[in-house]
Amino acid sequence: MSRSKISVIGAGNVGATLAQFLAIRELGDVYLFDVVQGVPEGKALDIQEGAPHWGYDSNVVGFTTPGQEAYKNLEGSDVVVVTAGLARKPGMSRDDLLGKNVEIMLDVGRNIKKYAPDAVIVVVSNPADIMAYAIQKITGARPERIMGLGGSLDSARFRTFIAKELNVSVEDVNAFVIGGHGDDMVPFIRYSSVAGIPITSLLSKEKIDAIVKRTRFGGGEIVDLLKTGSAYYAPGVSILAMVESIVQDKKRVIPCAAYLSGKHAEHYGASGIFIGVPIKIGKEGVEEIYDIDFTQEERELWNKTVQSVKNNCQKVDSFLSGKL
Ligand code: LAC
Repeated sequence: MSRSKISVIGAGNVGATLAQFLAIRELGDVYLFDVVQGVPEGKALDIQEGAPHWGYDSNVVGFTTPGQEAYKNLEGSDVVVVTAGLARKPGMSRDDLLGKNVEIMLDVGRNIKKYAPDAVIVVVSNPADIMAYAIQKITGARPERIMGLGGSLDSARFRTFIAKELNVSVEDVNAFVIGGHGDDMVPFIRYSSVAGIPITSLLSKEKIDAIVKRTRFGGGEIVDLLKTGSAYYAPGVSILAMVESIVQDKKRVIPCAAYLSGKHAEHYGASGIFIGVPIKIGKEGVEEIYDIDFTQEERELWNKTVQSVKNNCQKVDSFLSGKL
């Protein structure tokens, strides 16, 4: 099997942390791109020089992108991860980043289209489901080749909080979060369990409500603590899980922002947008979308997150109109 090539656009905290995780797991050669002169080269070299201790043979290389020639190095990528863009500061929601980040997506997307049209694209820049929508419009790539970060990270937070509350191994906690990667996300209580035991029989309603609330604002909790930006260690490993499932064709089932059309659009009452649903991830990207049942109450929560995502997609449409 030939070695995979994984490109990471954006060498900020999330991109660089991911690059290191990818190398440590030896998932392939890692190509790091950024607009800030010297940063991608410097961080790539720094990661590369740790290889003797970690024992990996992944090549880690960096490229500064202004001038566009650097983007030629995207050629042959199996996976392109897009982390470029602004991160949140205290008091900001992910949606506040939309305008600036969609502008950045225009440049990034055009270069992916030009140099790596066959790659699977993982979109991380926030709001991630909305930026996945923008990247699809800009690249014209098949929607199944694109997925956005959201549930992978939000579910990791949800599982962590449940495990801490019950003082059990996080490995035995199965739980997921669907919907947009925003304040209306839906931590899915009814399908959450500890070794198959529903959390509703282990935790009081008050405790569950508190965990759901903390999960929803999990990203903001870190922003408030750091003050200078948003989370990157848990995001890094949450993206790693997605990339690993792609390059190793593991077929993991992880909730991510995926494009809804056909029968899935009908089931979820949302068509032509990217939103967090449980998907099967493999070599081809989004290989299957699972339609899960809702109670009346869950359906209401779901409809609310769909509406927020739809509103944001409309903003992207008006920004992109005349530019494609
Ligand atoms: C978070 C950001 C990365 O949830 O969206 O931490």
